[in-house]
Amino acid sequence: MHTFIVKTMSGLEPVLSAELSAIGAQGVRELKRAVAFEGDTHMMYRANYELRTALRILKKLTSFPAFNERNLYGGIRDIDWSQYLGPGDTLAIDAVTSGTVFTHSHYVAQLVKDAIVDQFRDKYNRRPTVNTVAPTLRVSIHIQGTTVIVLLDSSGDSLHRRNYRKDTVEAPMNEVLAAGMILHSGWDANSAFADPMCGSGTIPIEAAMLAKKIPPQYFREKFGFFRWPDFDTALWNQIKSGADAQICDIDFPILASDKELRARNSTVVNLMASGLERVVTVDRVPFEKLLPPAPSGLLMMNPPYDERLMVEDTIAFYQGIADRLKQCWTGWNAWVISSNRDALKHFGLRPSRRITLFNGALECSFQRFDLYEGSKNITETD
Ligand SMILES: C[S@@+](CC[C@H](N)C(=O)[O-])C[C@H]1O[C@@H](n2cnc3c(N)ncnc32)[C@H](O)[C@@H]1O
Repeated sequence: MHTFIVKTMSGLEPVLSAELSAIGAQGVRELKRAVAFEGDTHMMYRANYELRTALRILKKLTSFPAFNERNLYGGIRDIDWSQYLGPGDTLAIDAVTSGTVFTHSHYVAQLVKDAIVDQFRDKYNRRPTVNTVAPTLRVSIHIQGTTVIVLLDSSGDSLHRRNYRKDTVEAPMNEVLAAGMILHSGWDANSAFADPMCGSGTIPIEAAMLAKKIPPQYFREKFGFFRWPDFDTALWNQIKSGADAQICDIDFPILASDKELRARNSTVVNLMASGLERVVTVDRVPFEKLLPPAPSGLLMMNPPYDERLMVEDTIAFYQGIADRLKQCWTGWNAWVISSNRDALKHFGLRPSRRITLFNGALECSFQRFDLYEGSKNITETD
């Protein structure tokens, strides 16, 4: 058994933790923008392939105390790196530091790199070179005060890169955030779903993949652990085919719509890349005119915030959204994410839940509105 740290985005720790428990991970515990678990290689492969809200999965190698640079250099040199890397291979170091002893993560990464390559030079008279894009081994160093934790990045490229997004329009959402919002919403993945401001289609594509049980990394060709010397091809093939065998058909509508032709086209390109063009219906209709595709379901919306995408009169624009929700979407649950708290305050609907999430650097409120007929919620918020 090894300890693993799964990195995620702020606010997604509870859904990631639930995802890990669902695939049978042991000792699951939430950290800041990460969740830890205990597991073996089997669980590491499953976690990489099946977790929708993971960004990277790091395997803990060791930890040691370091009170100065000499201790750090020595601790890294004490690890036998030839178990993980050859002298002709490539390597990248990521470092995160907190506390007062080591304050420059860039400098820490440099020192760790020196310790590793010096070991190879002494042993083989040759040394691995640095490649930050596609290295044989990506090493992650976390320093908390005087504790150095050495981890290996099993994912390689960040897991938000699902490999289906071939085209984007302005302000595309990170795929991990979209999946996290859907999981936070409690959608049963078995009833109608609509994104009326779909942009490049990230939210409805993630919804369709969840509903059809398509593993989030189904379209990815490589993981970091493929380059590890202990890569177990048979085990990997068994895990991949087990997860792929779960893929199923669905018989309820998933609707993506946007008022812009460019957004509609971009969504179609991405749907074709994911083979979901028959699963998600794409419309080019302004929300003010869009009709629900079913009497009830879940609507999820990422409207412009007036930050990266500008809106003329933001408060009136958001009030228009709320009016349309009240008039035409009764029977639905609506979830809206926005960094524009002022506009959400004047929305005209009372949220039944609020979750703080980050869209890039923007702190956002992700709010749920229950649209019952003649609803008590349809009152002005303070
Ligand atoms: C922030 S982007 C959505 C990004 C999307 N979640 C993605 O991942 O690509 C907002 C989208 O809302 C669309 N939009 C703005 N006003 C609209 C309206 N009244 N009706 C429909 N779409 C609208 C814009 O064209 C834009 O594509």
